[in-house]
Amino acid sequence: MASFSKSSTTVLIVFLFTVFCSLHNFSVSSFEFEVGGTHGWVVPPANDSKIYNDWASENRFQVGDTVRFRYRKDSVMEVNETEYKRCNSSHPNYFSNNGNSVFRLNQPGPFYFISGVSGHCEKGQRMIVKVMSHEEESPSGGGGKSSSGSHVAVSSLGVSALVLISSVCVVICCF
Ligand SMILES: *[C@@H]1O[C@H](CO)[C@@H](O)[C@H](O)[C@H]1NC(C)=O
Ligand SMILES: *[C@@H]1O[C@H](CO)[C@@H](O)[C@H](O)[C@H]1NC(C)=O
Ligand SMILES: *[C@@H]1O[C@H](CO)[C@@H](O)[C@H](O)[C@H]1NC(C)=O
Ligand SMILES: *[C@@H]1O[C@H](CO)[C@@H](O)[C@H](O)[C@H]1NC(C)=O
Repeated sequence: MASFSKSSTTVLIVFLFTVFCSLHNFSVSSFEFEVGGTHGWVVPPANDSKIYNDWASENRFQVGDTVRFRYRKDSVMEVNETEYKRCNSSHPNYFSNNGNSVFRLNQPGPFYFISGVSGHCEKGQRMIVKVMSHEEESPSGGGGKSSSGSHVAVSSLGVSALVLISSVCVVICCF
């Protein structure tokens, strides 16, 4: 009987661990943004040339999120700030023209996207995506420029896992 309850305790802990891990996965899971919604990545109308930057400033981008560009007879490039302002790049950090491009925002800070088709960027087919740092994600954060945020987050997750496990043990002992 003792061995049975011991093994069921183990099963319970493993089960809860799995639940916790999947919750953790859920909370840090990435989000995909569809650039331009149903219109996709196109030359904006002449009277509304800021659509992409307006859209980008309304969204909160986090590290690990992706942006998807859908387009026809066009392309997308990720460039540096100088090249963004000039609407011209001979060495983009990223280039795609397959009509359905997914770009992963792998670090905090700004990303500069422009169309690679001559003339399109000048007409407003460009966008700055500002990816939040870990400090900005926390409600009380701000100001700090150190990269310690991720370590803090990891250790607090570790603590909550420990709290969860030990409270499970307390519950089991009480029965
Ligand atoms: C965890 O997240 C990754 C992507 O971040 C996903 O591919 C995977 O299916 C997720 N796992 C679970 C159990 O949700
Ligand atoms: C731009 O012009 C179109 C028609 O030419 C109009 O329907 C649309 O409302 C205008 N958009 C803005 C932001 O003025
Ligand atoms: C952007 O890249 C170009 C070369 O491709 C370089 O000349 C320029 O200095 C870079 N600008 C910045 C802000 O890094
Ligand atoms: C863009 O860059 C290419 C080469 O880097 C150059 O030949 C071209 O004139 C530039 N176009 C503009 C509009 O600056």
